[in-house]
Amino acid sequence: KTYKAGYLVGSLAKASINRKLALALARLAPPQLAMREIPIGDLPLYSYDYDADFPEPARRFKAALADIDAVLFVTPEYNRSIPGALKNAIDWASRPWGENSFTRLPSGVIGTSPGSIGTAVAQHQLRGVLCFCNSPLMNTVEAYIQFTPGLIDDEGKVTNERTESFLRKYMEEYAAFVERVLTVLPRNA
Ligand code: FNR
Repeated sequence: KTYKAGYLVGSLAKASINRKLALALARLAPPQLAMREIPIGDLPLYSYDYDADFPEPARRFKAALADIDAVLFVTPEYNRSIPGALKNAIDWASRPWGENSFTRLPSGVIGTSPGSIGTAVAQHQLRGVLCFCNSPLMNTVEAYIQFTPGLIDDEGKVTNERTESFLRKYMEEYAAFVERVLTVLPRNA
């Protein structure tokens, strides 16, 4: 069985190292995962004033989330937390009340930073948010990737063999997790 896995990149920057990581993960994913990016950059700032009538970019975003079997967050750490753009996207996804897109949507969290703790603080904050949003979240493997210059190129090719095999292993574990969760708790049951 194959699963559609959407990934959200927490950075809006053109040269984002997290987008490079996401491309690498998409390349290294096992064949049962069909990976696609779900963009967050065109979402306006969320307010519950929109709940009665979501604007077009938010409708597209919700539709994209409804069409996937699993989600993967690839995020930078900004000021020891997740970037505002990513939190904004999560807030859109969680609403309107009763239409939380994360219910029964298995998730994984990963990120990269030039710093040595490799987004650990941001990832752990994101885990708390996803728990509240009722997303079944992969506990382990954890992955805190320190981005050294040239580690991953613009096409997502990993230049360090150990990192490449670790990221491949991460995606194998993620695929196995998604399959386990959806076998026990089908998304649209
Ligand atoms: C950073 N950076 C950063 N790095 C880190 O490890 N911990 C942090 O708390 C922060 N804080 C932070 C705040 C802001 C506003 C910026 C712009 C940057 C550095 C950050 O890891 C670096 O810019 C990465 O390149 C961000 O990933 P993307 O956006 O390139 O994917």
